[in-house]
Amino acid sequence: MASKDLRIHLSKNHNLIKICLGVSALLIIILVIVLLIFTIFKPRNPTVSVHPLHLEHFQLLSPNSSIAPLGLVITIENPNYASFKHGNCSGYVKYRGIVIAEAPFGARSYPARSTTNVTTTADIETAKLINDPNFWSDIAGGVFNLTSEAKISGKVSMIKIIRLKAKIYLSCGISLNITAVNATSSCMSKLKL
Ligand SMILES: *[C@@H]1O[C@H](CO)[C@@H](O)[C@H](O)[C@H]1NC(C)=O
Ligand SMILES: *[C@@H]1O[C@H](CO)[C@@H](O)[C@H](O)[C@H]1NC(C)=O
Ligand SMILES: *[C@@H]1O[C@H](CO)[C@@H](O)[C@H](O)[C@H]1NC(C)=O
Ligand SMILES: *[C@@H]1O[C@H](CO)[C@@H](O)[C@H](O)[C@H]1NC(C)=O
Ligand SMILES: *[C@@H]1O[C@H](CO)[C@@H](O)[C@H](O)[C@H]1NC(C)=O
Ligand SMILES: *[C@@H]1O[C@H](CO)[C@@H](O)[C@H](O)[C@H]1NC(C)=O
Repeated sequence: MASKDLRIHLSKNHNLIKICLGVSALLIIILVIVLLIFTIFKPRNPTVSVHPLHLEHFQLLSPNSSIAPLGLVITIENPNYASFKHGNCSGYVKYRGIVIAEAPFGARSYPARSTTNVTTTADIETAKLINDPNFWSDIAGGVFNLTSEAKISGKVSMIKIIRLKAKIYLSCGISLNITAVNATSSCMSKLKL
């Protein structure tokens, strides 16, 4: 009797070990899949650059107009495996911390792992510049520096299944060389889920 009891007991334990091993293996597989998803789909910040358009025709100060339209091409490289979509929004162009123009951009989407060019026009309010003594010394120095900022609210979506709210924070420095009539820019971006 006693030995039969022991056998039943042992075989029960054996089954328990099998279940334990099975569950552990399953957990490990789930863990590996989750880690894989997080490394592949880990949100990465977009790479952004700004290029002023037609600088040769750009007239910051014209006698008749209080507004100087500056065309801008914003190149946005989305490195993620998810697309990003936003509605109407605006960026702001600042000179020495003061907003001198708003640059609107309409609703659009940025496909996964692709580069998109967005064009916009910043209507610079020249009155805000000509009253600033720094402006005249910058012009005399041949360099006109601007910064631009945007906070873009939208949605990221992955394989049309996962949809999450996201924000992109953009901040660029644009340096216009007046004598060479060209510009350089450097941008920072942050994608927040
Ligand atoms: C500026 O205004 C003057 C007179 O109001 C006009 O003759 C001239 O054509 C205008 N210039 C431009 C660039 O619009
Ligand atoms: C977005 O902007 C365009 C042009 O400014 C306008 O026609 C449209 O109604 C706007 N859409 C929304 C949802 O505000
Ligand atoms: C975006 O614009 C840049 C410079 O204007 C150009 O070199 C590039 O080919 C454009 N890319 C796309 C995807 O249109
Ligand atoms: C303009 O920006 C450039 C590049 O960021 C910088 O090297 C330069 O010192 C700035 N000049 C002025 C007048 O702010
Ligand atoms: C602007 O361009 C001129 C002409 O190419 C160059 O001599 C000068 O060093 C440039 N200035 C800056 C701040 O890059
Ligand atoms: C700006 O123009 C100057 C002179 O034409 C050139 O040497 C320089 O490489 C240009 N810089 C950029 C960023 O295009």
